[in-house]
Amino acid sequence: MGLIFWSHLVILSCATLTSSVQIPIQAPTTPPNSKSTMPEIWDFNATPSLNSTNHLIFDTVGSLAQHWTNTRYRNGHTVVPGTVPIGTLLYHGTDQPEVPTEPDWIATDPDHSYVFCRTSSASGNSGCWHLTLVVTRPLRVLYFDGTSAAKMQGGTMDSQDITVWGQVKPEWTWNERKRINDLCEWGRKFGLDGFMRMEMDFEIMLCNFANGVEIVSHLNLDPGKDAHPAGLDLLSLSATYVLQYRSIEAGGWHNTYPGETRVKLDLNRLISFYDTNLFPSLVFARFGQERWKHRLQGLNAVDSKTFQAKLQEVLTQSDDAGSGVDWSTLIHVVVDRYAERLEILHYLLNTTSTAEHVKRVQGHIRSMVVQHILYTYTPSPESTNYSWAVPVYEHCATTHTRYISSSPSLSARLTSSESLILHSIQEVSKEICRVVVGMWARGVELGFDTIPTSPSSSSEKLDPGTATTICQWKERTEALMAWLDWSVWVRCRPECGYEEICYLPTWPFLDGPDWPPLPGPDVDEARTQLSGEGGEEGLHVRPIPKCIRRVEPFGF
Ligand SMILES: *[C@@H]1O[C@H](CO)[C@@H](O)[C@H](O)[C@H]1NC(C)=O
Ligand SMILES: *[C@@H]1O[C@H](CO)[C@@H](O)[C@H](O)[C@H]1NC(C)=O
Ligand SMILES: *[C@@H]1O[C@H](CO)[C@@H](O)[C@H](O)[C@H]1NC(C)=O
Repeated sequence: MGLIFWSHLVILSCATLTSSVQIPIQAPTTPPNSKSTMPEIWDFNATPSLNSTNHLIFDTVGSLAQHWTNTRYRNGHTVVPGTVPIGTLLYHGTDQPEVPTEPDWIATDPDHSYVFCRTSSASGNSGCWHLTLVVTRPLRVLYFDGTSAAKMQGGTMDSQDITVWGQVKPEWTWNERKRINDLCEWGRKFGLDGFMRMEMDFEIMLCNFANGVEIVSHLNLDPGKDAHPAGLDLLSLSATYVLQYRSIEAGGWHNTYPGETRVKLDLNRLISFYDTNLFPSLVFARFGQERWKHRLQGLNAVDSKTFQAKLQEVLTQSDDAGSGVDWSTLIHVVVDRYAERLEILHYLLNTTSTAEHVKRVQGHIRSMVVQHILYTYTPSPESTNYSWAVPVYEHCATTHTRYISSSPSLSARLTSSESLILHSIQEVSKEICRVVVGMWARGVELGFDTIPTSPSSSSEKLDPGTATTICQWKERTEALMAWLDWSVWVRCRPECGYEEICYLPTWPFLDGPDWPPLPGPDVDEARTQLSGEGGEEGLHVRPIPKCIRRVEPFGF
């Protein structure tokens, strides 16, 4: 098990195979995120700009409210208004028999809130309190993506800090009471009822328990004698693990698209800190940093003001602003179309050692773009730049967005958030098609399509030129997958057994099966010990998926 090879560095090595010339990497052709007024350039050698964030916008927008990607990249970059529909149930666990009269936290899954259903130390062992609420009118909330409820330094809370305090406040990482009070106070002028965040599962910081929600039940529950242990005998430990596992399991229900759907996000009004036009100071802050390290601390005062103005704009914008395009579906159409096929392409390239394998690779690549290959296409190997294949490239790259971007009436209705998303889909599609169609065209010219199927081709070793081409294709596929960085490719390898799930460690259970036990009923106190300011280094280890048990015995 472990992180896959293409997450980070791609080491180019094919040059050592032979001395044949590699395709030169050319300078970027379009400035990042700008709607180019110049004609689109269809050059198979033109890679995306180094500072381009379109692939990151594509992936973060496509991953909103999904647990897996937002656990993998804890530091959120997107702020999105949303609504919780009427009739939705929400849960609150506590040691108090009273309904909160000030802002407090509610969970979307009762497995999450039950972790906080505790016996008050003052009242002795008299059960714990679990409140179920129902939404009686659409609740207006603001969602912070990433693992935004993780009380960690290092970036998980940046977007909240900037929203409410105008700057990152590491000293208030644990000041959750101040945070929720200030957020609710700030949000009142926009009619916000709460804020959605994520930790092991999703939660909402609800500003007013008497407005927009009604009590369905308020039960005095059995907290489980052993579930919130005073001492640390083995039995109580195991009960604690059950409780914690159930909340992790519930979070996992929202791992992949469409994720947590109890909050309807309005993508037409989202703000992305990867928008390089709005927040140029972050381009500088991110420069040379891996995605894992991206955060918002480097936002300068000017860009922070821009963010406040933009928030004001989207929170006062009419709910029905926008074109009506279903952006998250469109993003997932592209992801579905290529995710598995690219992974298989990489596998095939990694196992190609005979002429017949080469033919198989070429067939796979061709099938990925076959809907764009016109009957009348005529390869002309004399051209040095594959110009004969440009129509295939162009059609492949624009097929999903051409209508939206060229229809004047539709373009006129796009909000600026929609234009940002549209541009990200355009650039991601373009880069996929540049690489895939580029390989296909090269293979056509090299005659890979027409390798005869014969006993000899199934054993025939590759000549050095072909071996170099295959090696280069493998590198190009790895580079593309590293650039796209889709979380669907991050899995437990080998796959987990039936009694296990694949778990991406998340705060506060960063160690999975070796979860440190909660030493007492005061979970917050325990959390401080688990992830307090002291041990920051260890906490910033990149999450690596691992198999943990889903049936007893848990954890160990
Ligand atoms: C990328 O951003 C850095 C930092 O702002 C800048 O120095 C560099 O020139 C930019 N590179 C490109 C290709 O735009
Ligand atoms: C590629 O092939 C090598 C050698 O067969 C193997 O060890 C490696 O796991 C393969 N990589 C992938 C991603 O399949
Ligand atoms: C590709 O080469 C052809 C001639 O072979 C030339 O007419 C065309 O302008 C070139 N295209 C690019 C993008 O360089």
